[in-house]
Amino acid sequence: MAETNLTWYKDAIFYEVYIRAFKDGNGDGHGDLIGLTEELDYFKNLGVDCLWLSPMYPSPLRDDGYDISDYYNIHPDYGTLDDFKRLIAEAKKRGIRIITDLVMNHTSDMHPWFQSARQSKDSPYRDWYVWSDTDEKYSETRIIFLDTEPSNWTYDEVAGQYFWHRFYRTQPDLNWDNPAVIEEFKNIARFWLSLGLDGFRADAVPYLIEREGTSNENLPETHVILKNFRAFMEEEFPGAILLGEANMWPWDLRPYFADGDEFQMCFHFPVMPRLFMAVKKGDAADVINIMERTPDIPDNCQWCTFLRNHDELTLEMVTEEERQWMWQQYAPEDRMRLNLGIRRRLAPLLDNDRRKIELLNVVLFSLPGSPIIYYGDEIGMGDNIWLFDRNGVRTPMQWKDAPNGGFSTADETYAPVIDDEVYGYQEVNVENALLNDCSLWHWTRYLIAMRKAHPVLSRGTYTFVPTGNPAVLAILRESEDEVILALANFSDEPQVARLHLPQYAENEKKELFSHMPHGCARDEMHRTLMEPYEYQWLLMVPNGKDQ
Ligand code: GLC
Repeated sequence: MAETNLTWYKDAIFYEVYIRAFKDGNGDGHGDLIGLTEELDYFKNLGVDCLWLSPMYPSPLRDDGYDISDYYNIHPDYGTLDDFKRLIAEAKKRGIRIITDLVMNHTSDMHPWFQSARQSKDSPYRDWYVWSDTDEKYSETRIIFLDTEPSNWTYDEVAGQYFWHRFYRTQPDLNWDNPAVIEEFKNIARFWLSLGLDGFRADAVPYLIEREGTSNENLPETHVILKNFRAFMEEEFPGAILLGEANMWPWDLRPYFADGDEFQMCFHFPVMPRLFMAVKKGDAADVINIMERTPDIPDNCQWCTFLRNHDELTLEMVTEEERQWMWQQYAPEDRMRLNLGIRRRLAPLLDNDRRKIELLNVVLFSLPGSPIIYYGDEIGMGDNIWLFDRNGVRTPMQWKDAPNGGFSTADETYAPVIDDEVYGYQEVNVENALLNDCSLWHWTRYLIAMRKAHPVLSRGTYTFVPTGNPAVLAILRESEDEVILALANFSDEPQVARLHLPQYAENEKKELFSHMPHGCARDEMHRTLMEPYEYQWLLMVPNGKDQ
């Protein structure tokens, strides 16, 4: 059926599923598509509109699937193409959309293209990758996987040359200057979108093109390619989205939206660490500051905002001093650090303090953008810092108090389920969360429902209103139909905020979490006393209406 709501992503609630970790449907110890399909009602109940699936393609899994060896199939651990088609069909029945990762920058070194390329300079695939006789080219390019890779060049004995890679050496970069690569990726996209997919999370896009004397990031040539790719998608699959993963400053991110003809969405990377900074400092200034330095984006575009994902909490978009401070505060043990980030989950980062978890979620849902939830964070799952790389935040979803947390019936699973006193599956699991009306899960469901009941939160303009108190953030969301004032106290002490909002002085205010009338005093200074970590969504009731 033709897509009619072409900007659906502006209102959508996204949810990131790590397939391997979510639900094992065939008892082999790995999460898979059958298991995921069985649990689709879970998302429906929570109110999720769109799933983002981690890479499901065949892969030697040297980077957990971000090293693809066949773009046209499903990893045997996850099932078959038929399983994938069934997943899409069942999701559609429930009105749930699905996007998947599309890794454009690189392939696995096990991909037949690379295997052929390295054999001979005459291979038709030689020019699909980036080669050099020396490892001295592009010396101004930073290394991303700092903890493991000493260089972006690795010598390949068989090829007799160095190949370029921005990530692991098992992930050679593709040569996007080669038109054959561009055409191949259109075919790949066609293949998946024809199955009914709703778009892609385009992985690691800033690095597609290399040019001597540059940082090799966000180059104009890269934008030309992405625009061209979008035009093809628009033409053949209108309504399908490109969600860009570009871990960049706001002003470098802005060009990815171009004139509304490149990406529909980009993750807002820089605001994320600042939310964690704010709650630790009890001061919202950093959040305001980065949003004020965030350029406006075209009307048909939307930010994607998040608190955590499957990677380390990246500290690339902060200053060196802020990074050190964040590590001290949030990653006191060495094992908690990885590259330029922190490999921990939301609940442990926030001391499992329900007030802080709610606060940051409410702020995320109040800022411009469509929020994305990382699997398991809605039940307050913990992490396992003893696992390798980022695997500590990719442990099995905790479904119930049963062996393997109800994730799998296998004797052994791909990674152990969390089994400690605070975050163990015995207590922290979906079954308990659903039974307990006061659980974080039910609260999250309510938050999602309210966000959807008030489209001003997804489509309205936003303004930061001075509160006279650095601990209290006030975001005014306005549209022609609705106005909501979001208030958040980042401090662990009670705080008074004073807001000057003469235009709404006459309106009754209704607090949406408590359903209580609020601050009805008809003066121009709206004085509010906020409890530690308290938040409010104040709906300006239209004058003369009793809602
Ligand atoms: C992205 C993914 C990350 C992966 C990297 C290389 O940053 O989020 O998990 O390792 O790309 O593909």
